[in-house]
Amino acid sequence: MSPDFFTEAFQDDRLLWFLNRGTGVILLVLMTGSVCLGVLSTVRASSVFWPRFVTQQLHRNLSLLSVALLIAHAALAVIDEFVNIRWWDVLIPFLGEYEPLWLGLGTLSTDLVIVTVLTGLSRTRFRSRTWRAIHLTSYLGWAAGLVHGFGIGTDSRETWSVGISVACVGLVAGAIAVRLSTLGQEKQLERRSESRRPTGSGYEPAQSRRSRRRNR
Ligand code: HEM
Repeated sequence: MSPDFFTEAFQDDRLLWFLNRGTGVILLVLMTGSVCLGVLSTVRASSVFWPRFVTQQLHRNLSLLSVALLIAHAALAVIDEFVNIRWWDVLIPFLGEYEPLWLGLGTLSTDLVIVTVLTGLSRTRFRSRTWRAIHLTSYLGWAAGLVHGFGIGTDSRETWSVGISVACVGLVAGAIAVRLSTLGQEKQLERRSESRRPTGSGYEPAQSRRSRRRNR
């Protein structure tokens, strides 16, 4: 790649638009990874080579990276003056002048991502059931982002782009399938640990304390 390539690229008045499109695609991939790791971190599967905390840490870090990229993606759309996207269109969905429906879905996704990431970072402040209900909206956030990209994107009908979207849907569907298939096993584990709990001794195994907290 010659130095002229960069000089020309930075002088191109479509640079912001290219960056907006590029960050959109990478964002979809990162959000997909984050959703999949989130789903898999609830599955009790772990090994010496891949302990459960690794999945949880990766999920957390990927979510934070997605937020940083989301800020960049939305900011590029606002700064680029080719179409009229105002700063409040980034937070208030469906009221924009440009592609209100498709852009609104991106905004809705952004709002849901902000809520899930912020509540995710302050989990202990919430009752377990409330926290879980909020966190489940991340599926909706991911789906809204996916449909937004497909509806508004310049490249979204290109074969490579459709391929990426189909792969993302497949990965999330696969992760959900794994989660659903282990639900029965998880309930069985919980029941077994409940029945093993000695009564009146003041002793309570960590496993059942965890499940009680989860069922609060
Ligand atoms: C307020 C938030 C958002 C704004 C203002 C915004 C804005 C835009 C705009 C203007 C485009 C069109 C680029 C073009 O002309 O091709 C675009 C494309 C795209 N956006 Fe967003 N977006 C937002 C949130 C999101 C989110 C949360 C995702 C998550 C997946 C996302 C993923 C994409 C994708 C995949 C594309 C398609 C790129 C292409 O194929 O050309 N966006 N976005």
